[in-house]
Amino acid sequence: MTTPTSILILAAGQGTRMRSSLPKVLQPLAGRPLLSHVLETARTLDPHRLVVVYGHGGDRVREAFPETDIRWVHQAEQRGTGHAVQVALPETDADDRVLILYGDVPLVRGETVRRLLTQLDEGADLVILTAALKSPTGYGRILRDDSGRVQRIVEEKDASDSERRVNEVNTGIMAARSRDFTRWLSKVTNDNAQGEFYLTDCVALANTEGRRVEAVVGHEAIELMGVNDKRQLAEQERAYQRREAERLMVQGVTVIDPSRLDVRGEVEAGRDVCLDVNVILQGRVKLGEGAQVGAGCVIIDSEIGPGVQILPHTVIEGAVIGAGASVGPFARIRPGTHTDSNAKIGNFVEVKNARVGEGSKINHLSYVGDSELGRDVNIGAGTITCNYDGANKHKTIIGDRAFIGSNTALVAPLTVGEGATIGAGTTLNKDAPPGELTVARAKAITIPGWKRPVKKPKE
Ligand code: UD1
Ligand code: CA
Repeated sequence: MTTPTSILILAAGQGTRMRSSLPKVLQPLAGRPLLSHVLETARTLDPHRLVVVYGHGGDRVREAFPETDIRWVHQAEQRGTGHAVQVALPETDADDRVLILYGDVPLVRGETVRRLLTQLDEGADLVILTAALKSPTGYGRILRDDSGRVQRIVEEKDASDSERRVNEVNTGIMAARSRDFTRWLSKVTNDNAQGEFYLTDCVALANTEGRRVEAVVGHEAIELMGVNDKRQLAEQERAYQRREAERLMVQGVTVIDPSRLDVRGEVEAGRDVCLDVNVILQGRVKLGEGAQVGAGCVIIDSEIGPGVQILPHTVIEGAVIGAGASVGPFARIRPGTHTDSNAKIGNFVEVKNARVGEGSKINHLSYVGDSELGRDVNIGAGTITCNYDGANKHKTIIGDRAFIGSNTALVAPLTVGEGATIGAGTTLNKDAPPGELTVARAKAITIPGWKRPVKKPKE
């Protein structure tokens, strides 16, 4: 059996450079807080303890994560990364392997940090994750001896000119056994340029004790980068989106322009799905084989069947769209909509909490809400289900093969029978029997000799 892993996530910093009233770790990346990405990665390691050190914006941060597997440790005063780890260590067991992650380093991969734990198991006492950067400014630098062994880490502000020329930096992520961290941190002082207790000083202390310090060198800079301001947040967002687009393309999805796709949730896509530009997929989205999503569509928590065509600028939320259906352009499909196969919903149509049967059509300019439509129903342009009486919502039921003429107002609750026809312009306030024409309309009359008004001459 391997030793249990405790994961400490440092998230107490202010994030002043965000210039935001929202605490840094709650800033959204792909539609959810930075911290939630780190928690997700941490959970893939199956930790025995998951500890978050919080401080600034404390209650808001805690409230955003009601999950019960998190142990919250409050660091009232931010006295440095070493101090942050020190206050969290009592939540771990002395034998635990402790992995330090950061609430503002959201894209680190599980497989990368797993390499640190593997090194611990293979005999290292302290393992740090480093990266070689073209512009290392601002980061702690890794100082190695002639044989390449890591000696210590020097913070930018404490570094000499020659030390600043080192381009291997500390990502901050590291791992050691709990009892070792406890011992090292009890010896760390704040005698440095920033007057802080540096976690990074553990490296020199471990070496002094003759312990084995190892470095894992990460490859992908973006994965190891922290988010300090809105520019870095945007860079990380793009990096995240590139990963998501690549993941989908590897599965056989055609992404017309990977830089113009935004995934803010979990997407499952069949083969030959095609996503045109500026599509946003949010929450849980399932796209059946061969589904086509046009430019500028937003799809939220929905299931799109195989072969469905979503035409440009359509918004779909909380809906199930059956195989072969066509929706849009410019349609709005709201929660509780369920269309059966081959339904057709056209431009400027809003559908809410409605079942639309197989082959039924709502082609133009309509509102259909709280309704049940059978199969092969035809809803004429400008039809409105008047589902709301100002106090309560009522249901409209339309039978198979009914034909609703253009500009009909269906005053719910009511039922239109199978095969019924409703004349254009009808305000229907009673049930319409099956198979018959029902029409409520003043008869058109012709007024003989009527003259159009003419413009009065200007005085
Ligand atoms: C730290 C490292 C530096 C590394 C860099 C990588 C130290 C001393 N330095 O520097 O070597 O290159 O990260 O990004 O560790 N935090 C707390 N409590 C505190 C202080 C910090 O929770 O008292 C958290 C912050 O919220 C943040 C993280 O720790 O998530 C890093 O703190 P920060 O002050 O940004 O450290 P850096 O100066 O960037
Ligand atoms: Ca930082």
